[in-house]
Amino acid sequence: MTGELSPIDKAKFVAAKRAVDFVEDGMRVGLGTGSTAAWMVRCLGELVRDEGLKIKGVPTSTRTAALARDVGIEVISLDEARWLDVTIDGADEFDGDLNLIKGGGGALLQEKIVATASDQMIVIADVGKEVETLGAFPLPVEVIPFGWQTTKALVEEMLISMDVLGRNTTLRMIGDHPFVTDEGNHILDLHLSRIGNPRQVAMVLNQVPGVVENGLFIDICDTVIIGYGDGRVQVR
Ligand code: 5RP
Repeated sequence: MTGELSPIDKAKFVAAKRAVDFVEDGMRVGLGTGSTAAWMVRCLGELVRDEGLKIKGVPTSTRTAALARDVGIEVISLDEARWLDVTIDGADEFDGDLNLIKGGGGALLQEKIVATASDQMIVIADVGKEVETLGAFPLPVEVIPFGWQTTKALVEEMLISMDVLGRNTTLRMIGDHPFVTDEGNHILDLHLSRIGNPRQVAMVLNQVPGVVENGLFIDICDTVIIGYGDGRVQVR
């Protein structure tokens, strides 16, 4: 499955491999989205295929659903599962309090719903994702397409009123077209540099009409598994 890996892929792979140790027979597992989560899905698939592990997976995106089915994981919806034993997902940044920025892959809405509906959320990440203060990675905010420019203006006003540094907000594009999430929405990326009070920013963003959800995951993640390019793994 791995062949010759670059240090970054090795870091993602070893974190993913360690995370699947937390998965037991009969569990309902939230399956994250992104390149690190994809390693985890492949590792779980291997356990299903080679060791007869019996799990049901709830994917957080159509991409992950396709991969999970491909590797032999039984896929069910969140409404079928109702509640999950564990969710394993990647992140764009994590800080010392295990708060996260997510949504670089555009799946933050389903990721947050699934993680919140889980007994525990485990984040897998290469060591480069660790930060002292969140915000160097642009904060993704999912907005409905209707009136998105007005929503963007309201979000920017809100940032000014909160005195958050750096107020450059961009609509995420794919070529000439706005990126469309699995739920049919768009993503605004907020270039903030530094988010001093992520809890407050997360709460206030979600008050803006047109905002569906933001990529700050506060008090949701229980454990971070950090992978290193030399194959070491650290669990926090
Ligand atoms: C997708 C996400 C991803 O978990 C995040 O972007 C990290 O991705 P990768 O593992 O590819 O670095 O939040 O919406």
